[in-house]
Amino acid sequence: MLSVIISLIVCYNILLTESKPPHIVFIVADDLGWNDVGWHNPAMKTPNLDNLANQGVILNSSYVQPLCTPSRTAFMSGYYPYRTGLQHNVILPWSAAYLRRNYTLLPEKLKNVGYNTHMIGKWHLGFCNWNYTPTYRGFDSFYGYYNGQEDYYSHKIMFGLDYRDDKKVVDDKEGVYSAFSYTERAKKIIESHNTSDPMFLYLAFQDVHAPLQVPKRFEDMYSNINDKNRRIYSGMVSALDEAVGNITKSLVQNGFMDNILIVFTADNGGIPTFGGNNLPLRGAKSTLWEGGTKGASFVYSPTLLDKTGYINTEMMHATDWFATFLDVAGGQPEKGVDGISQWDMLRTGSPSKRNEFIYNIDEINKNAAIRYGDLKLIEGSAGRFNDWYPVPTSNLENFKTADHIYDLNEKTDLGVEHFEIENIAESDEPQYRLFNITADPTEHFDIADQFPDLVTKLKDKLVEYKKLLVPAFDPSFSPKSLPIFYDGVWTPGWC
Ligand SMILES: *[C@@H]1O[C@H](CO)[C@@H](O)[C@H](O)[C@H]1NC(C)=O
Ligand SMILES: *[C@@H]1O[C@H](CO)[C@@H](O)[C@H](O)[C@H]1NC(C)=O
Ligand SMILES: *[C@@H]1O[C@H](CO)[C@@H](O)[C@H](O)[C@H]1NC(C)=O
Ligand SMILES: *[C@@H]1O[C@H](CO)[C@@H](O)[C@H](O)[C@H]1NC(C)=O
Ligand SMILES: *[C@@H]1O[C@H](CO)[C@@H](O)[C@H](O)[C@H]1NC(C)=O
Repeated sequence: MLSVIISLIVCYNILLTESKPPHIVFIVADDLGWNDVGWHNPAMKTPNLDNLANQGVILNSSYVQPLCTPSRTAFMSGYYPYRTGLQHNVILPWSAAYLRRNYTLLPEKLKNVGYNTHMIGKWHLGFCNWNYTPTYRGFDSFYGYYNGQEDYYSHKIMFGLDYRDDKKVVDDKEGVYSAFSYTERAKKIIESHNTSDPMFLYLAFQDVHAPLQVPKRFEDMYSNINDKNRRIYSGMVSALDEAVGNITKSLVQNGFMDNILIVFTADNGGIPTFGGNNLPLRGAKSTLWEGGTKGASFVYSPTLLDKTGYINTEMMHATDWFATFLDVAGGQPEKGVDGISQWDMLRTGSPSKRNEFIYNIDEINKNAAIRYGDLKLIEGSAGRFNDWYPVPTSNLENFKTADHIYDLNEKTDLGVEHFEIENIAESDEPQYRLFNITADPTEHFDIADQFPDLVTKLKDKLVEYKKLLVPAFDPSFSPKSLPIFYDGVWTPGWC
């Protein structure tokens, strides 16, 4: 009798834990190249990430957008950026652009089903008005910065500080490398969270975006690398890895691991001129090539995944995280979002629920790309990095250093992310190129001439998708934005 009661209690407890929505930790690395993680390249020292990846599911066809703002738009809204107006470039600090409020963001949706929601790191979805900032878009707390490409120690972008704790300016972290203060904050959230409530933690690390900066002990881990950019960049990857390791430890110590989903993804590819590498893939950040859009990614959970320890090659798109997380959490995306829940695929290894996706549609750059099954059609220029860039092995003098970029910013105000603004088409590029990504994942063989009917088929599909385009929201320089009007801090209130 007693044993029956005990097993009933155990069953009941199992049922209770199984039906409880899991904690979700969503880790986004900035500008991390395909070849810049240990599970793709043994020269990279990322033991903590490798462990999670190898014990979880490594995603080998997980696509993101070519740039930071668009990828974050897709993660947070579930919409293709071209349907929100944020398909072109990144939001520059002085631009009154933002992810419009008619898109309900992931943290708000998760809050509605009972989650506590916290964000640490890079926002990059607009801040010209408080209404567009994280704690007004569903996050209970925010600790990080609004823009991109700031200094890792001074936390300034150009001449303005950009660091907030909710709405308060953080001005006591001068000289502290961001990966350390972000880890401290993550641990604090984890330690003070009651695990009976589901937690959503969005960890949008600053690493490994330019400027190239890292504490010396991380750079020293790669003393064998002669190229200065690559050496510092590799150190940054290891700093990111240590941060994830410390946060994972805290999750274990505080009892989160029984019911948690951890997702790791890059936001776009690496930049060869800033130490990143995407081999064997073609192209880089800012391009429509696979090197810009295929993200290093994995999922990990000690309890929720039925099949682990393998490489999943099924098709996944950045917008799918929105629908997947909501599915796992017991929520519902509204009708019309582009994201599809891939929870079955991630959990069991079953086929992807999608057979096509849009890489991007940018009516200003006049380029676009679409994937349909094995095939990828690129319309217009894929961007300005067209090659297969080798891992830098020695100092390349004409490669700009991060310091140089930073000086440029100070002098001109317009240097920031300038490498993203330039998207110069090479004059001899064909208008349409077709690749078989299954047979040719590295995009060496344009087969457009061999299969004109397939080109037409994919072009027709693209025409349909383009009907949903929201014109690029790309306002010009707004003088009212400047930190000189706000005590030297980038501050909302000018739109
Ligand atoms: C959001 O608003 C923009 C601008 O008004 C509009 O173009 C777009 O279609 C709207 N999207 C949704 C999903 O409501
Ligand atoms: C956590 O929340 C549960 C359910 O609300 C409650 O019973 C428990 O006392 C809380 N634990 C702590 C340490 O506050
Ligand atoms: C990780 O934890 C160790 C041990 O407490 C600490 O020395 C190190 O600075 C931490 N690193 C980061 C990135 O938080
Ligand atoms: C693309 O490659 C796959 C795998 O090799 C092959 O099955 C398929 O027939 C190819 N498609 C075309 C149009 O060549
Ligand atoms: C994963 O993707 C890489 C790069 O496209 C490719 O070389 C590799 O064969 C893929 N692995 C599997 C198991 O498909």
